[in-house]
Amino acid sequence: MRSPIGVFDSGYGGLSVLRDIVERLPQYDYLYLGDNARAPYGTRSFERVYEFTLQAVEYLFAQGCPLVILACNTASAKALRSIQQRDLPRIAPDRRVLGVIRPTAEAVGALSRTGHVGIFATPGTIASESYDIEIKKLNPGFEVYGQACPMWVPIVENLEMETPGAKYFVDREVGRLLEKSGKIDTIILGCTHYPLLYDQIRASVPQGISLVEQGRIVADSLADYLRRHPEMETRLSRGGSIDYLTTEAPDKFGALGSIFMRRPVEARRIQL
Ligand code: DGL
Repeated sequence: MRSPIGVFDSGYGGLSVLRDIVERLPQYDYLYLGDNARAPYGTRSFERVYEFTLQAVEYLFAQGCPLVILACNTASAKALRSIQQRDLPRIAPDRRVLGVIRPTAEAVGALSRTGHVGIFATPGTIASESYDIEIKKLNPGFEVYGQACPMWVPIVENLEMETPGAKYFVDREVGRLLEKSGKIDTIILGCTHYPLLYDQIRASVPQGISLVEQGRIVADSLADYLRRHPEMETRLSRGGSIDYLTTEAPDKFGALGSIFMRRPVEARRIQL
């Protein structure tokens, strides 16, 4: 029986993480779920994001996933802790759900020299202050500056990355972030959709400032987790397959998903 690693995002963004995970750990089976019908999550309330994320996790558990990665910063910020602490002991004490914020915060200490770190993320992730809290817990003395980018996810979901409109909104948020401190030397792309806007963001951010994408960081962290948890690792099936589920039109998911994954993607529609 298949026991894939479940990977969840509100839409397409998590595919940017899945791609790096599959490259790092190609031997396992994967089941991706994008809740495209209800995306974006970034402007939704805490309660809604929690409710939707829990539904997705329960769905992936029912498909046989012993382990689910929330490849979505918004869901990691607003739902992960409640699911880990309140729901898992009740619904599935032997399964695990991991997020993307903690591994990213762990990596950033080694990347910044000035200790002044910027975050681009959805309004929900910024409002949660999750990055602020996690980075400062691990690196006392660091300063963290958040900039919400409400238009960036819709730009990506509508494939408008190459347009003058995209350039306008990228330049605007970059300007707003850099106004907050002249000492920022590292900026985290704290939304899994943003790697698709990497070239535009890179062109707007001064060269001396590093841009951090999460995919490889999350992939390395997952590899490390599986090394430290053989009881979980041995439960995962090793067929090298990737299946895709979406709550919206599967054709559109396939077309856009292929861009994120850089390989053909065929999706099946499900209802949560
Ligand atoms: N990709 C999600 C994240 O990493 C957000 C997209 C959304 O707003 O739904 O935060």
